[in-house]
Amino acid sequence: MKKPVRVAVTGAAGQIGYALLFRIASGEMLGKDQPVILQLLELPIDKAQAALKGVIMELEDCAFPLLAGVVGTDNAEVAFKDADIALLVGARPRGPGMERKDLLLENAKIFTAQGAALNKVASRDVKVLVVGNPANTNAYIAMKSAPDLNPRNFTAMLRLDHNRALSQLATKADVAVGDIEGLIVWGNHSPTMYPDYRFATANGVNLKDKVNDADWNANTFIPQVGKRGAAIIEARGLSSAASAANAAIDHIRDWVLGSNGKWVTMGVPSDGSYGIPEGVIFGFAVTTQNGEYTLVKDIEVDDFSQKAIDKTLAELEEERSGVAHLLA
Ligand code: NAI
Repeated sequence: MKKPVRVAVTGAAGQIGYALLFRIASGEMLGKDQPVILQLLELPIDKAQAALKGVIMELEDCAFPLLAGVVGTDNAEVAFKDADIALLVGARPRGPGMERKDLLLENAKIFTAQGAALNKVASRDVKVLVVGNPANTNAYIAMKSAPDLNPRNFTAMLRLDHNRALSQLATKADVAVGDIEGLIVWGNHSPTMYPDYRFATANGVNLKDKVNDADWNANTFIPQVGKRGAAIIEARGLSSAASAANAAIDHIRDWVLGSNGKWVTMGVPSDGSYGIPEGVIFGFAVTTQNGEYTLVKDIEVDDFSQKAIDKTLAELEEERSGVAHLLA
C-alpha cells in the first residue's frame, strides 16, 4: 500500500467542497491505488463547523477504502500540516453593495494568512491550487506570503474555463471533446480571459480552419466562455460547483500524474514569457510530467490575440496594485 497523500481543502463545507471531497476520497484525483488523508478547514463559526462535521460524517459513511483519515479544523496550521496538496477553495463571497476593491482586500487578508500558514507547516513540495475568487490574485498573494516555498508550488484554477472552451468548441466543430488538443485560455479567471483555439486540433485537423468563422470566435465563443459562470448562476440560482470541483480534480490530477503531452491551462507564475511580467499568476498552456509543469513556449501571438492578452493582463495588474500595500 502506498503512503497516504495529505490533501488539505479549505471551504470544505461549501458547495464546491461538497462536490469535491467525495471524488478525492474515491480516488478520482490521485488514482485508485493512492490513499489520502483529508485535512479540512472551515471558518471558526458554529454554523460552518457544524456543516463540516456533517460532511465528515458522510465521508465516514461512504467507507472509502482509500480514505486513510479525516481531520476537520478551524485552524489553518492544523489543516496545512505536512500537506502535499492544498486546494484553497474557501473565500469571501461578494456581499450586497460590496465593491470589487473591497472584495479583493477581504480576500487578500485570507490568502495572506493562509500563505503564511502553508509557509510554516506544509510539505516543502506542496502543490497549491487556488479556486476561491479572485483566484489569480489570491494565488499571487498566497505565493508572496510564503517566501520559503518555491513560487512554482502556487497555481490558480483556469481549468474550468479550459473545459468550458473545450466543450463549446467540440459542439461547434462537431468533434469529440476528448479528441481536442492544443487549446489555451490565457490570463485571468474572469470575463477578460482569452480562450484561444487557433492551434486546436482534433485527430490532426485544425479546428480554426474547420470552423472557419471569425465572427463566431469573436462574438460567441470568447464572450460565452468568459460569461459562462454568470449564465449558470442565472439558470441554476447557484454558482457552478460540480463543474468547478471537476476542474479542480482535472488540474491536480494532470499536475501530479501528467497530461500525456496534452496542453492544459493552468494559472501559474509567469517566467516572463509572452511579455507577462515575472510572478504574475496568468493562465498559460502547459504540459505536465512527473509532478512538474512546463510552459508551452513560442506560441505565435497575432494582433487579435495580443490585444486580448493585453486586456486580461491589464486587469490582473490592476488587481495586483490594489493589494500591493499588503504585501510590502
Ligand atoms: P460557498 O460559499 O458555497 O463555500 C465557501 C466555503 O468557504 C464556505 O463554507 C465558507 O464558510 C468557507 N470559507 C470562507 N472563508 C474561509 C476561510 N478563510 N477559511 C476557510 N473556509 C472559509 O462557495 P463555493 O461555491 O464553494 O465557491 C468557493 C469559491 O470558489 C468562491 O470564491 C467562488 O467564487 C470560487 N469559484 C472559482 C471558480 C474558478 O474557476 N476558479 C469556479 C467556481 C467558483
